[in-house]
Amino acid sequence: MIDDVLRIKNTVINNRAVLQPMEGCDCNEDGSPGELTAEKYLRAAESGAGVVWFEACAVCLEGRTNVRQMMITEQNAGSFRALLQKMRDAADQRQVYILQLTHSGRQSVRPLIAYHNSVYEKTRPVGDENIVTDGYLDSLPDKYAAAAKLAVEAGFDGVDIKSCHGYLLQELLSAYSRPGRYGGSFENRTRLYLDCIGAVKAAVADGTLICTRLGVSDMVPYPNGFGCDERGELDLSEPDRLIGELVKRGIDILNVTVGNPYYNPHVNRPYRKGAYTPPEPPEAGLQRFITVEKHIKNAFPALTVVGSGFSYYKEKAIEEAERQLDDGVCDLAGFGRMWLAYPSFYKDHASKTFDSKKCCLCCSKCTELMRGKRESGCAVYNGYYRNSYKEMKK
Ligand SMILES: Cc1cc2nc3c(=O)[nH]c(=O)nc-3n(C[C@H](O)[C@H](O)[C@H](O)COP(=O)(O)O)c2cc1C
Repeated sequence: MIDDVLRIKNTVINNRAVLQPMEGCDCNEDGSPGELTAEKYLRAAESGAGVVWFEACAVCLEGRTNVRQMMITEQNAGSFRALLQKMRDAADQRQVYILQLTHSGRQSVRPLIAYHNSVYEKTRPVGDENIVTDGYLDSLPDKYAAAAKLAVEAGFDGVDIKSCHGYLLQELLSAYSRPGRYGGSFENRTRLYLDCIGAVKAAVADGTLICTRLGVSDMVPYPNGFGCDERGELDLSEPDRLIGELVKRGIDILNVTVGNPYYNPHVNRPYRKGAYTPPEPPEAGLQRFITVEKHIKNAFPALTVVGSGFSYYKEKAIEEAERQLDDGVCDLAGFGRMWLAYPSFYKDHASKTFDSKKCCLCCSKCTELMRGKRESGCAVYNGYYRNSYKEMKK
């Protein structure tokens, strides 16, 4: 049941609802939480959800998608500590806070790519000079470790070494054509990801939750994608091997995701209204999440898995989450767009005041705001983002 407690190491998670990472593009230029960022996370604190999984937080300046992406540094770590303290004061029971660490790679302000990818570069060509060197990649585990250490000192219960949605660590997983230590073989393509996990583990206190959000398949056909064959069908042979390595390294929570929101957003976030008519019905995307998660739970029963993609179920989202939790598809249920639209959905469910009229409509406006280089939030129910969306459309 969604209200059940879960214990991992010494950490108690008070219920199975996870607020998924949702980037707001609203931080200060030094990467510290801005006013809108703080407002959003205070709503998260009051939501009653067991876990708040903070949005993508860059480990270095050149790895940011935009100048308002979150970034933790020695200079600004105090503002993260202050925000977490306010959140803990606002929450009516202890929540678990996880910070997602990222390098945006191809999506950085100046694209930093692992290799030339003919699918992505059809619409966004990138020069040879943007391919990162092995020396640059060698420097990243220390940056992940430093950011993780600051995060834990600031009060986060865990960190996420993010490898999904086409960002650098995930792009490397399909760097079949890259020469050198980070391309070609499975060992080389997974090297940086696993090295970053090792470096983070060594840098933080025992008891810290070591988590990862993995794009199990980006659903981009081989040789331009991971976990996908030449025909564009799911192929879980390499993801299985990789998850085996994650388990060996003691990963505590695997947050499962699929798809690349820059290439096939309908896969990652099935929608009712979006930029194009998807080549598959949303139900096929929802079923894919279930298939992938069930497969992982069968192969690695002891691994704690967060399931994704619940917002599309709208007023049935919690019912569906309970069904999947009971069926052993996942151990925690992740809600993304839903919490932007209806931050107190879980608390209202618990107090039997759930209001189906406040549910996310999956209209893609939050994504549109982000792509329009604006602060992102729910443009349906929140007046600030609604006005911003209207202005953008003018
Ligand atoms: C506006 C927006 C921002 C997002 N930011 C992040 C992010 O920072 N990190 C991440 O891993 N996923 C991010 N996602 C993906 C969500 O966490 C989630 O996986 C996706 O929306 C599907 O779940 P849902 O159907 O519950 O919304 C974002 C999605 C949207 C729409």
